[in-house]
Amino acid sequence: MKFENDLIIRAAQGEVIERYPVWLMRQAGRILPEYRKVRASLSGFKELVETPESAAEVTVQPVDLLGVDAAIIFSDILVVPEAMGLSYELIEKKGPWFENTIKSMDDLEKYAQTNFDVEDRLSYVLEAIKIANKEIGGRVPLIGFAGAPWTIFCYMIEGQGSKTFSKARNILYTNPTLAHELLTRITDITIQYLKAQIEAGAHLVQVFDSWAGILGKEQYAEFGLRYLDRIAKAINQVPVTLFAKGAYNSVADLAAMDCQTIGVDWNMQMKDIREVVGESRTLQGNLDPCALYSSHSEVEAMTNNMLDSFKSRRHIVNLGHGVYPDVDPEKVKTFIKTVKNYEIQY
Ligand code: CP3
Repeated sequence: MKFENDLIIRAAQGEVIERYPVWLMRQAGRILPEYRKVRASLSGFKELVETPESAAEVTVQPVDLLGVDAAIIFSDILVVPEAMGLSYELIEKKGPWFENTIKSMDDLEKYAQTNFDVEDRLSYVLEAIKIANKEIGGRVPLIGFAGAPWTIFCYMIEGQGSKTFSKARNILYTNPTLAHELLTRITDITIQYLKAQIEAGAHLVQVFDSWAGILGKEQYAEFGLRYLDRIAKAINQVPVTLFAKGAYNSVADLAAMDCQTIGVDWNMQMKDIREVVGESRTLQGNLDPCALYSSHSEVEAMTNNMLDSFKSRRHIVNLGHGVYPDVDPEKVKTFIKTVKNYEIQY
């Protein structure tokens, strides 16, 4: 595949780049009035996710309006539990909500199905990828994604967001057999789903382990990393990014996996992570999403500071987590412009 701008792929593979590529997690979303307009024309978030033409339209918006170096397919990590039998709702100002949750082995047959055609049940995402690529017309690559098994497990057990995910963590102590069985099922479906996205036209994939940081090192190794490793090993058609938020103690283990890029959140210091990872992986991140509430000149200064802390070409610039919905898009543009104007020293 030839792109007008393939910086992100070259950066992921550790090739020479003229400047650092930049995109934002959650760039296809509420920061853009143009996104809110499309969403308001439909019944809600789920209809937007499930209507390929509309999902493709909001996927392409940040490429046109912000000038990012990659698109990310507009969807959600929760489409996977839904395909497995646990349907979700998105409740305004509250977040995701599942009517049913998994409490016992008996629930798996109904709510954690694996015996179905992933390409068929998630065809709306694959269709959106195809349409988005047509509209992007080779200007930039398209990122596909999925939630990591541990993070999906959290929602399937808890049924909603939580500060502690104590119900999900409870299972790790009281019923590890159930935990491993459910994690195995999620992993199997996620591998099929990512492969289907690649087949449909995703040029890189990112796995989001948003709740990695709530487990201690040993538990994360057993219930998180083990399954991430299986995914990384199974996906070798395109570059893979692993973003395990808060997993400071597991960075060396992540870097040992079969991936190209490690996501770095804003609590981590880029130079410390580089020391652990070495030059064999690309690092992605990590400006604090809240930094974008500052003035334009401060955004520029903080972005330049972050770039000055890089001691390598192996970087993809991003925030340390998704962009917050009430950030002024003009600040996002300042962030992007600053990265584009920065001259790499290495
Ligand atoms: O990055 C992108 O622009 C692509 C789209 C994308 C969404 N969700 C759209 C979305 C991606 C990559 C996700 C991933 C996702 N979803 C994660 C992992 C990344 C992370 O942020 O840690 C998680 C944990 C979810 C689950 C989820 N979906 C939550 C907790 C929420 C509610 C919180 C919120 O931001 O409102 C959602 C809803 C959601 N997913 C929205 C968007 C644009 C907001 C829906 C809307 O009101 O339009």
